[in-house]
Amino acid sequence: MGRIPQTFIDELLARTDIVELVGSRVPLKKAGHEFKACCPFHSEKTPSFWVSPAKQFYHCFGCGAHGTALGFVMNFDRLSFPEAVEELATRLGIDVPRELDSPGRSPADEDLYELMGRVARFYAEALSRDARARAYVTQRGLGREILDRFMIGYAPDSWNEILRRFGPDESRRQRLLAAGLIVERERTASQGGDRCYDRFRDRIMFPIRDARGRVIAFGGRVIDQGEPKYLNSPETPLFHKGRELYALHEARQLRAPLRRLLVVEGYMDAVRLHQAGIAYAVATLGTATTAEHLKRIFRVVSEVVFAFDGDRAGRAAAWRALQNALPEAREGREIRFLFLPEGEDPDSLVGTEGREAFEQRLDAALPLSEYLVHELSGQAELSHADGRARFAELARPLAARVPDGLYRELLLERLAREIRLPPERLLALWTSAAAGTPGGKAGVGPSPVRPARARESAGRGSLVRQAVRTLLHFPGTAQAVSSEKCAALAQVRDPGVEILRELLEALQKRPAQSTAQILERWREHPAHERLARLAGEENLVTDPRAAAAEFSNAVEKLLDSVERQRIEELLAQSETGLGPEEELELRRLMSRRGGARPAAPGH
Ligand code: UTP
Ligand code: MN
Repeated sequence: MGRIPQTFIDELLARTDIVELVGSRVPLKKAGHEFKACCPFHSEKTPSFWVSPAKQFYHCFGCGAHGTALGFVMNFDRLSFPEAVEELATRLGIDVPRELDSPGRSPADEDLYELMGRVARFYAEALSRDARARAYVTQRGLGREILDRFMIGYAPDSWNEILRRFGPDESRRQRLLAAGLIVERERTASQGGDRCYDRFRDRIMFPIRDARGRVIAFGGRVIDQGEPKYLNSPETPLFHKGRELYALHEARQLRAPLRRLLVVEGYMDAVRLHQAGIAYAVATLGTATTAEHLKRIFRVVSEVVFAFDGDRAGRAAAWRALQNALPEAREGREIRFLFLPEGEDPDSLVGTEGREAFEQRLDAALPLSEYLVHELSGQAELSHADGRARFAELARPLAARVPDGLYRELLLERLAREIRLPPERLLALWTSAAAGTPGGKAGVGPSPVRPARARESAGRGSLVRQAVRTLLHFPGTAQAVSSEKCAALAQVRDPGVEILRELLEALQKRPAQSTAQILERWREHPAHERLARLAGEENLVTDPRAAAAEFSNAVEKLLDSVERQRIEELLAQSETGLGPEEELELRRLMSRRGGARPAAPGH
């Protein structure tokens, strides 16, 4: 997909008013220069959610939620970044441009969406007209209402039904090909007759929709027996298999807030669960759960349960899901695993035992840490020392995938308990093992101890912090500092100063009108989260001119520290003698500071 140009994001933010946007979804009250509300992202009785028109930024002092207008739409409407961009653009009635360096969403893609929608409607109608297909879905337990909600259809038993109806000329045939609805025969095969034929024939059709509800692909099931059981759309400009979750759109249509998602493997499982009232089920379309799936899931909810068949294939799939889930594990999130009895899948189980019993199973599903311990202790005998050492070895690379934080601490404790070792000992073992191997960073030890210098100046780090915060709150202050001074910041050693310099340079090159614009330009930058947190902090100075003065003052102080340090260095060195150039430099520095360098003896 082509990148959305940054200039367009800038424009989008300049033309969107965050107060109006948030206000359309959450009742806001004016309070001074800002607006407040009860936070929509956690439950509270007194408002701690603030929206700043000046910064075009929201921040909750209760739960720490924060972001720009785009971030708000992503979190509140549960959209991905490009979807949120589209949403804001739609509000403004403008189109989202794409950069050309990669195959992007072009007007032709719009056509494809439209085509997919029309074909889906055709399939749905065909289902109501075909007695055999209808009998099959009824026998699978699907009622009228759920068929409509999922737009389930039937592809007639014909080689060219779609081709004839939707591909009367060459250009439209090309679009059918691009959409994956028809297939081209091998060139050498047939000379006469049609070059193309329908991909889906005599199958029950499950449209796959994106977050905005547009049909982007199909899965087609044979009626009764046949191979392959499910045929899916190929990768197309609209459809990327490892990314989509079937039924996510339908789950989001729910009126009640989505608390958790249940991830299952099959189309039929998801549909039957929805029908049974478990409308937070989504399916991974027969692929393993990918890291992208997980990112998407956690943008929507903080609790996920994976359901797997109890057989060997199911266990293997669960283990893969666990590995992909580790980088996403953290406090505040819940990741659990449900293993179904052998021979059952969610579809059959919810059919026989109903919603309540099934939800009881969900509530009892294994937390990630327990599943991990259970799996590893199956591979290592914990009753003797060798086995426990093996357990520790197996756990090490897995624990290393969990990001730093409280959750990893707790996981570590849990693992240590299993092998009856104090957590610190386990950690020490891992750290030394990691240091001993070339791939040492696989260890989970604490991040390397910071050099003493960095710690000493931690207090002064706040000067950098203050400067960055001022820049974020008043992007215009970047012009208060000359580009020479900006370049001179390269000499400063205070922690975080690289970010200050990078931000300052960027803003001098391309000024920004609001905090929000800066944050969106830095969305992909590793420091983005830190910047966003600073943006949420209050700035004591509220007048732009005072802010500019404060900012250049901070920069002066930072540069001054470099000079002072150099002077100290030169003075120390002068004990043993300075070269003529160094002598000159020292004089220059001293005089600039208002002090005179005493003439060196002998001169
Ligand atoms: P299953 O074989 O478990 O089928 O495949 P199912 O979901 O229980 O389907 P029913 O109940 O027999 O109708 C699970 C999922 O794997 C993908 C599909 O997404 C399917 O829903 N799959 C399976 C394929 O893509 N192709 C296949 O040939 C089989
Ligand atoms: Mn099934």
